[in-house]
Amino acid sequence: MPSTPESLLDLVPVVPVVVVEDVAHAVPLARALVAGGLPVIELTLRTPVALEAIRAIAAEVPEITLGAGTVTTPQQAKEAAAAGATFLVSPGATPRLLDGMLETGLPFLPGTATVSEVLAVLEAGISEMKFFPAEASGGAPYLKSISSPVAGARFCPTGGITAASAPSYLSLPNVGCVGGSWLTPADALAAGDWARVESLAREAAALR
Ligand code: 3PG
Repeated sequence: MPSTPESLLDLVPVVPVVVVEDVAHAVPLARALVAGGLPVIELTLRTPVALEAIRAIAAEVPEITLGAGTVTTPQQAKEAAAAGATFLVSPGATPRLLDGMLETGLPFLPGTATVSEVLAVLEAGISEMKFFPAEASGGAPYLKSISSPVAGARFCPTGGITAASAPSYLSLPNVGCVGGSWLTPADALAAGDWARVESLAREAAALR
């Protein structure tokens, strides 16, 4: 049984955000991330095979910290937890969704993009969150601007971040890690090019 992490933001510098179209890709790509030094995966609930992919990784790659991303309803939170996810990530944070994620008992990163959303999540007793969509919402300069006025919050910015832009986020005091899909490009997955995924993971693991 995979263990539940204490702080999601301190595990790795870059959380791989993954869209799996073919369930057969799930296990080899998870192994490639582990081999590259990034033993964390956020598997997004954006495809019909996502829950099956989570079940496969939970069973066959227990050494990876396995999360479900793009959680947008309480029902999805419940299903992801039942499939074996050990953390949850959502793109936004309605009160109902926050309750649904809290009910799973799993750690989670609710999505925020504005100061009021950050304050609402802090009011709910949660200090670690996703900043999404990071680049479109003002990027690293935005997070830098709010680091002093909203000092209690720590972020995993995600959305439009690349290997080139990640360091500008990682140098901020209110950023623990970033998330990104650049480590698992669709063409590499389609070609079964796990060596490329491993090499992209290795580069990302060295970013901090
Ligand atoms: C997410 O779900 O967090 C984002 O879609 C990932 O963003 P990226 O594909 O721009 O890295």
